[in-house]
Amino acid sequence: MNNSNNILVNDQNNVLNQNTVENIDWDGTLWRDRVFSHPERTITIGTSCSGIGAPEQALRQLGLNSKILFAGDIDPNVKKSYFANYDITEEQWHNDMFKFDATPFKGKLTLFVSGICCQTFSKAGGLAGVKDKKRGCLYTAFSRIVRECEPEVWIMENVENMLNSNKGSDWKIIKEELDTLGYDIHYQVLNAKSYGVPQSRARLFVIGFKRPTEFLYPRPIKQEKVICDILEDTEQGLRQLTPREALRLQGFGEDFKIAVSDTYAYKQAGNSIAVPVLKALYQQMDITKYGF
Ligand SMILES: C[S@@+](CC[C@H](N)C(=O)[O-])C[C@H]1O[C@@H](n2cnc3c(N)ncnc32)[C@H](O)[C@@H]1O
Repeated sequence: MNNSNNILVNDQNNVLNQNTVENIDWDGTLWRDRVFSHPERTITIGTSCSGIGAPEQALRQLGLNSKILFAGDIDPNVKKSYFANYDITEEQWHNDMFKFDATPFKGKLTLFVSGICCQTFSKAGGLAGVKDKKRGCLYTAFSRIVRECEPEVWIMENVENMLNSNKGSDWKIIKEELDTLGYDIHYQVLNAKSYGVPQSRARLFVIGFKRPTEFLYPRPIKQEKVICDILEDTEQGLRQLTPREALRLQGFGEDFKIAVSDTYAYKQAGNSIAVPVLKALYQQMDITKYGF
């Protein structure tokens, strides 16, 4: 793995721009107008805390060749949904990311993505942060998995408050751990409403590139969709969204199979990363450059 001074210098220069307007690509070709440089390549992907597979879904929606090498989630109902929708075997699945050994995948992975549990950093979740011995420490499992499989690119998604919980000391600890990986690290809070989703959903996207990479985050676009665009009917007045609508709200297509009860479907849709934001990131970084 590249652990050279280059990366450290690059990081120090970059760090001032992270999570600022200067970290956004205001002048380059808009992400959705970009053409992939190597569409013939296969993106090999692994995910942990996989949920309903937003990162896999985004590759599919972009029409890219992709292969899932591993995925996992501790919730058996999530597993049900995942198996109903993606090409995966029992051997490729792990339950607890703390117990997952990623060494067999060393050097084989384009992309590792994990939206590690976020309640511990969210204002609604009590803010135990990294002190939450179980959920707060998932970042250590994340970093170990990266160290073991050395993906070309990794993405860690979380609530924006990961930057601020416990007066910023949690992020300092997490960032210090991620820095030990020797990757070129970028981070920015993006709001899903600016990437094609009719809901305001601000999330932190931390990205690590194996080699020093000039990267600016995809610029926001005007909100094009409104909530009426995702409703199954033209019903007026207040009502709860259907599970299908909740999935649409996160950018999942009609082909996504609902394999669990409504209660679990709502929970899984609500936990998911917004698919269009991932598509924008893949287009912006030209994910095919890192394919095999
Ligand atoms: C905030 S959700 C993220 C879901 C996912 N990123 C998506 O896009 O759908 C966190 C997920 O982590 C799972 N999880 C929590 N602890 C875990 C662990 N130790 N190992 C694996 N998965 C875990 C939860 O079951 C939940 O599905």
